Amino acid sequence: MNDVVDFININRDRYLDELKEYLAIPSVSALPQHAGDVRRAGEWTADALRTAGMNNVQLIDTPGHPVVYGEWLGAPGKPTILFYGHYDVQPVDPLELWTTPPFEATVRDGEIYARGAADDKGQVFMHIKAVEAYLKKGGGLPVNTKFFIEGEEEVGSVHLDEFIRTHKEQLAADVVVISDSPMFDRDIPSICYGLRGLAYFQLDMRGTKSDLHSGSFGGAVANPAFVLAQVLAQMKDKSGRIKIPGFYDDVRALSEEERAEWKKLPFKEAKYRKELGAPKLFGETGYSTLERVWARPTFEVNGLLSGFTGEGAKTVLPAVAMAKVSMRLVPDQTPDKIAEIFEAHVRKITPPTVELKVTRMHGGKPWMTEFDNKYVRAAGRAIEKGFGRAPVFNREGGSIPVVSTFQEELGLPSVLFGVGLPDENAHAPNEKLDLGNFHNGIIASAYLYEEIAGLT
Ligand code: BES
Ligand code: MN
Ligand code: MN
Repeated sequence: MNDVVDFININRDRYLDELKEYLAIPSVSALPQHAGDVRRAGEWTADALRTAGMNNVQLIDTPGHPVVYGEWLGAPGKPTILFYGHYDVQPVDPLELWTTPPFEATVRDGEIYARGAADDKGQVFMHIKAVEAYLKKGGGLPVNTKFFIEGEEEVGSVHLDEFIRTHKEQLAADVVVISDSPMFDRDIPSICYGLRGLAYFQLDMRGTKSDLHSGSFGGAVANPAFVLAQVLAQMKDKSGRIKIPGFYDDVRALSEEERAEWKKLPFKEAKYRKELGAPKLFGETGYSTLERVWARPTFEVNGLLSGFTGEGAKTVLPAVAMAKVSMRLVPDQTPDKIAEIFEAHVRKITPPTVELKVTRMHGGKPWMTEFDNKYVRAAGRAIEKGFGRAPVFNREGGSIPVVSTFQEELGLPSVLFGVGLPDENAHAPNEKLDLGNFHNGIIASAYLYEEIAGLT
């Protein structure tokens, strides 16, 4: 193992150059004009796996963006780790808020800035480089590994469930390892044992067939912008509680034990508020900030559009209003049931003065696991070796829809070992990854093989 770690240390600059190349590919899965770039990033990922020494590397087409697969199965009788991640990235707008261009990775103060640096190309690349180092210097790996890297995570992994159901044998493994989340804080590595789910919608309201003069017609018809605002305002009460009937029916209560554990975490609310630039924090009454983000469901407005929003004033009565809304879900809520009760409620409270269209967009189930299992403990030891500090255990507010599919379809436990940071700016301008964490993550990933091999 010393040789492997030496090799990783010696190759630090090369890894950085290669990562910059990976990050230069604008693999934005949400935008059709980038479909070719998404594919190119998939091919780049496949090439990186081949260079690392993985076998049977393939770019597999799906009805959407391709999946990348590779394997190293030279340790018969030993466990198999399935590494999952995604090579697609979020759109970059607003572009003017980036200090340096999103697809020209730039290092400042030990962090690499680029779209995808943390979410998720940087973290995928970390695991690929660990395999490469181990195969070069450690002989073979002490475990079997498979890589399963998708290109549609940021658009809801819509084709992935079907892919998993039809490739069960190819994906068979003992444990899934995923690095696609932030660690608890700088210098505090963590293992995440819970994710929220998601149910996403677009609401369209139409009041009239065309925009109208607000003087000639104002007062005679409903204004869809106003109706939409009223409908949205009814979704939550002042204490932050969601008012959709039945919304909380399946919410698993936070155990006293978990609450007590979270209180021990070094979370500084004042610092958190300041870093977010919020005048005051807000959330459901009766819960702490970590509890609100990790263990409670939410209702959010993601976007609103109606009427005249240019400079100056225009006396117009808009014909249409649109909102994008989503709910983060917690165990044991399901996106299907929430979609039904949400849609029924919106239809019920929308007055007959507007036409309403409800479009269901992507969803994902929440996920949570017992964190006291042998794989989590093995990962904990590997992280301690890579980072010089044992991880804490946390849940996260974000969603990775496929994690529950791994559990349900393949019966696989997942270990979430993220090396991003809470201020990584994922999905926002100036996304970044700490290069120290990237480097320690490669070392920890290499230690993980031995820790998991030792379990049999
Ligand atoms: N890496 C994130 C998920 C994540 C974020 C996990 C923060 C833990 C903490 C992932 O790429 C992501 O953005 N997921 C989407 C899923 C959606 C498009 C279905 C999300 O959470 O919005
Ligand atoms: Mn991600
Ligand atoms: Mn993301």
